Amino acid sequence: LSPLLLLLLPFSNLSSQHLSPLASVPLVPIKSTQPIMTPLSQIHFPLHSQYKGNSGLPGMKGQKGGIPGMNGKQGEKGEPGSKGEKGDLGPAGVMGPLGPKGNPGSKGDNSKVRRSAFSAGLSKPFPPPNIPIKFDKILYNDQEDYNPSTGKFNCSIPGAYVFAYHMTIRGRPARISIVAQNKKIVKTRETLYGQEIDQASFLIILKLNAGDQVWLEVGRDWNGIYVSAEDDSIFTGFLLYPDDIFETLA
Ligand SMILES: *[C@@H]1O[C@H](CO)[C@@H](O)[C@H](O)[C@H]1NC(C)=O
Repeated sequence: LSPLLLLLLPFSNLSSQHLSPLASVPLVPIKSTQPIMTPLSQIHFPLHSQYKGNSGLPGMKGQKGGIPGMNGKQGEKGEPGSKGEKGDLGPAGVMGPLGPKGNPGSKGDNSKVRRSAFSAGLSKPFPPPNIPIKFDKILYNDQEDYNPSTGKFNCSIPGAYVFAYHMTIRGRPARISIVAQNKKIVKTRETLYGQEIDQASFLIILKLNAGDQVWLEVGRDWNGIYVSAEDDSIFTGFLLYPDDIFETLA
């Protein structure tokens, strides 16, 4: 206790309240039997003015003041950020359902169908030997693979061909050969003399390449192939089937 407080103690005894050294004297509840207290400022302290006390110890450090402030208001919305880089390609999607059936296609070009056939007859009997017999009466030769002026069939479509002849033989014997690629691949003969009439026929299937040629020949003194108003001798050939069913379009 400071000396000042010590001096005040006698007066504070009048009240139940504590007294701060520097505060004014509190108002004491007035009781009719008690006198009004004299204010402290009016009290003269004769002893106190003559003795100066020593300095007190430094006070303790005060507590940090102030209550932390409340959170501030939310700021304004920022500007949009710059565009990001393009992402990686995603995985392939699932295969879709099967589409509806399409319409029928247009009709094919008939002219592309591969055909080759001919049939031709002799107009004069007893053809010259050892050269192609010229069957000059055309019965059918739309593709003109057979040449009536040479008597040769010229293959334009590779494939399997049928060749056949049907001859009337009269007055002399006949040796008839089918020649392909300059080789007599079929040889037949008919021995007949006088006015007798007979028929000779043959049929063969040959595989031909484009440019292969086929014709008939008779031998010397064996050329009894006959024709008249009542008798025909015919050479026939046709494509049985081509090597390539479909023509390759260039
Ligand atoms: C025979 O046919 C082939 C193939 O088509 C052709 O190149 C050739 O010129 C023809 N030859 C004759 C004599 O017509």
